[in-house]
Amino acid sequence: MGQAVSAEAMKTKEEFFHVLGALKEKFESMQPELEVTIRDPEMGVEGYVVVWNTGISNSGKLPGCGKGGTRITPFLNIDEVKMLARTMAMKNAGASLRLGGAKSGMKADPSAPDFEKKYRRFVQLCKPFLHENGGPFGGFGFDIGAQPIHAIWACDELGSTRSFTGKPVDMGGTDYDRNGIAGLGVATAAKAMIEKHGDTVQGKAFGVQGIGAMGAAVIRYFAEYGGQLRAIADPKYGGTWMFDAAPSESLMTAIIKHDADEITKGLAAEGRKIDDGVQAVLFQQLDVLFPCAVQNVITETNSYEVKAKYIAEGANQPVTKEAYPMLMEKGIHVVPDFIANPGGIIAAYVELTSEGSDKVQEAKDFTIRKITENVNRMVDLSTQYGVETVHAGQYLALDNMLNGID
Ligand SMILES: NC(=O)c1ccc[n+]([C@@H]2O[C@H](COP(=O)([O-])OP(=O)(O)OC[C@H]3O[C@@H](n4cnc5c(N)ncnc54)[C@H](O)[C@@H]3O)[C@@H](O)[C@H]2O)c1
Repeated sequence: MGQAVSAEAMKTKEEFFHVLGALKEKFESMQPELEVTIRDPEMGVEGYVVVWNTGISNSGKLPGCGKGGTRITPFLNIDEVKMLARTMAMKNAGASLRLGGAKSGMKADPSAPDFEKKYRRFVQLCKPFLHENGGPFGGFGFDIGAQPIHAIWACDELGSTRSFTGKPVDMGGTDYDRNGIAGLGVATAAKAMIEKHGDTVQGKAFGVQGIGAMGAAVIRYFAEYGGQLRAIADPKYGGTWMFDAAPSESLMTAIIKHDADEITKGLAAEGRKIDDGVQAVLFQQLDVLFPCAVQNVITETNSYEVKAKYIAEGANQPVTKEAYPMLMEKGIHVVPDFIANPGGIIAAYVELTSEGSDKVQEAKDFTIRKITENVNRMVDLSTQYGVETVHAGQYLALDNMLNGID
């Protein structure tokens, strides 16, 4: 079978894997289109910009553009940024966005007293690569180490708000972190998966590992969809907690607002601590599980203990590749990270392309629509060929990336 492949050309599971293998090989052989290290030795500034796969964007509203967030850590290096930008290429394609992948970053301590000066210099040095200036780099955004004030510094330095996404609403942004749009996407992914199986979210018991930005937003939106929060786990709150009845409105509000003191009080009053560790949440009698903390928590050695029927990955790679087939064998339906959690980049795309007056609502609507469509397509493909959802999702992402978006 050749490289120019389509779903119609595949008939069997074996052919599916043959085609997927060819797509993966092609992706493996790709190189970044832009890969730069930026330095101002006198000021001690070092940063990186990497852009992949802008071909996917040529038929869209942002031709020749790649996008992703900006990571700032003291030990960052170009290899890490390359890997992250490549992952964004996969995530953006998996989200069916006509947008290449990119990542930028600084090797710096964002809490250092001279950081603002360095950050502003970094932004200046990136100017020639920016999409708004004719380059392929879609601009800055949030990632580890990035803080809301950076949006203000970057836009001020550039004299334009076009090259920073996730910025406040009054600057023309979607404020996607504060609005929990990535969490909305993950909650929507679970809803779409449940409904695709002829079921409903109403009354479904759910548990969340990791009550940070992602976990809190998932709780907010999945409860709005009708789910019943039954379990949470976070080392910040001392382990795994269960709720015998629906948590009070005040505790739900505290969780959504990340109010740690109120959450602690609420847990003491309404929760039942079942374990000092954070893994126990994964093995409770729940309908839906949202791992929203760290990678590799569901593995080949513990997947047999998972009882939930549905898993939506809020964290990046919480399920190992060895565990996927074991979960499938048990009839557990998983929405992998790159299909479930790209709400932030979907919102960024809206921010970059919309002229509308309510970009937050537009970003939410677009996230719900895109993620629902993608989950449905992934499940159809997985059912048609009898393959794991993660492989069906990989096929969709790579087919979009390498053969174009329909
Ligand atoms: N926030 C987003 O927009 C977004 C988007 C896509 C993916 N993600 C992924 O979601 C995950 C969480 O990101 P976040 O933004 O919520 O981070 P965060 O720092 O806001 O929150 C992480 C939370 O997890 C807790 N935690 C740490 N280790 C844990 C463990 N082993 N078990 C349970 N809880 C643990 C921390 O105490 C913290 O409360 C990461 O994998 C991240 O890459 C986040």
